[in-house]
Amino acid sequence: MPDAKSFIDANLGRFRAELYDFLRIPSVSAKPEHAQDTRHAAEWLAERITAAGLEAEILDTPGHPIVLGEWRGAEGAPTVLIYGHYDVQPPEPLDEWTSPPFEPTERDGRVYARGSADDKGQLYMHVKALEAHLATQGSLPINVVLLAEGEEEVGSPNLVPFVEAHAERLACDHVLISDTGMFAEGLPSLLFSLRGLAYFEVHVKGARSDLHSGEYGGSITNPGNALAKIIASLHDPEGRVAIPGFYDDVLQWDTETRAQIAALPHDDDEFRAELQVPELTGEAGYGTLERLWIRPTCDVNGLLCGYTGEGAKTVLPNRAMAKVSFRLVPDQTPTTVKKLFEAHVRRVAPPGVTVEVRELHGGRPWRARVEGKGFEAAGAALEEAFGTQPVLMGGGGSIPIVVEFEEKLDAKALLVGFSLPGCNLHAPDEWLPIENYEKGIGALALLYEKLAS
Ligand code: BES
Ligand code: MN
Ligand code: MN
Repeated sequence: MPDAKSFIDANLGRFRAELYDFLRIPSVSAKPEHAQDTRHAAEWLAERITAAGLEAEILDTPGHPIVLGEWRGAEGAPTVLIYGHYDVQPPEPLDEWTSPPFEPTERDGRVYARGSADDKGQLYMHVKALEAHLATQGSLPINVVLLAEGEEEVGSPNLVPFVEAHAERLACDHVLISDTGMFAEGLPSLLFSLRGLAYFEVHVKGARSDLHSGEYGGSITNPGNALAKIIASLHDPEGRVAIPGFYDDVLQWDTETRAQIAALPHDDDEFRAELQVPELTGEAGYGTLERLWIRPTCDVNGLLCGYTGEGAKTVLPNRAMAKVSFRLVPDQTPTTVKKLFEAHVRRVAPPGVTVEVRELHGGRPWRARVEGKGFEAAGAALEEAFGTQPVLMGGGGSIPIVVEFEEKLDAKALLVGFSLPGCNLHAPDEWLPIENYEKGIGALALLYEKLAS
């Protein structure tokens, strides 16, 4: 009987073809017109999980369904909860894709498709690693609960209640997630943190309607001017967030972590050139990687106001809206940031308009315990599969459920991801290196073994 590794090597072509079928399903969770496609992705996945030799079930939620795969035959061995998401971000702008987003296409050793890196490709690596064990050994070295949700990209609105309602079924010793990246090509990585998120809309309202800007301009506050003033007040000249109290809960990271970050092979100029910006900017006193991983941010994500069509229209708009989000770091919470942000907006809003802050969604930041059984197992598995010792890195993005899993299931999370910087997550031409897909499956198969012993 072949071992899991030879089975993987012998089946790589099929593993790729199956992933491409998964990627062809446009499971865009944000769009109601894709609700059927999103369900189809759940059904497709449940079928593949069954075919791999686990029991699979689709559980409905008020939104998109959750797929649960289970295998509990490893008596006395630890239980691992594997989490991932089968939903994807909207593919727009479509005309900026080199090949269509839902037609997976191989170029230069990469597969290009929406969801290839975030997160279908990485989620499916687990399904194949599990299959490799079951097909060759008839069993898994660990007990597994595989939870795939269809609403991660819209803030997981139904997942916390689901975890609470099924806490016993989800009980586990480790939470394992592949929904992040490696620091660089050939350099496997383990995460020591993820940033949290607090996302708002700021609505500014002025007169009863838009008005002639000559007839009325100068006599009332323009909501566009007011919103610009509010946004301009969010940062100080040092690049710090200028909201009083914003840094009160920000953890000062230990010198060891900062030294580890500084030792990573990062080049500011390459980073700058790759992004095609004239200069890198950010909070004074911190390097780029620190600004990305261990420092909080405040960013405008969208603006809506006034006349933006062709030519000039002399008008005083009567409303303006901004989407503003904060990336949070330990030990900030969305709840506290919301209070501080609202109070700040009220304080700086000019007279003559009404201002409303609406919360869209949020998630707490996560900090790993970079030691213990799980970490050692993951380090050893990655080293064996990639032939290089993994590095520790932070995650600038957010996976809000991580902290909730840890607290509600009383287990620590392990974040082992296989995308690469520049993989175009959420952007046109998203891709996943095929080499990482294949080596990653091997690494995960090894990791299950190492978690068992
Ligand atoms: N997989 C990403 C999170 C991620 C990306 C972590 C890169 C670390 C590095 C996830 O699918 C995602 O996009 N999360 C959203 C948050 C969610 C509430 C919409 C994010 O970070 O914006
Ligand atoms: Mn993701
Ligand atoms: Mn995402």
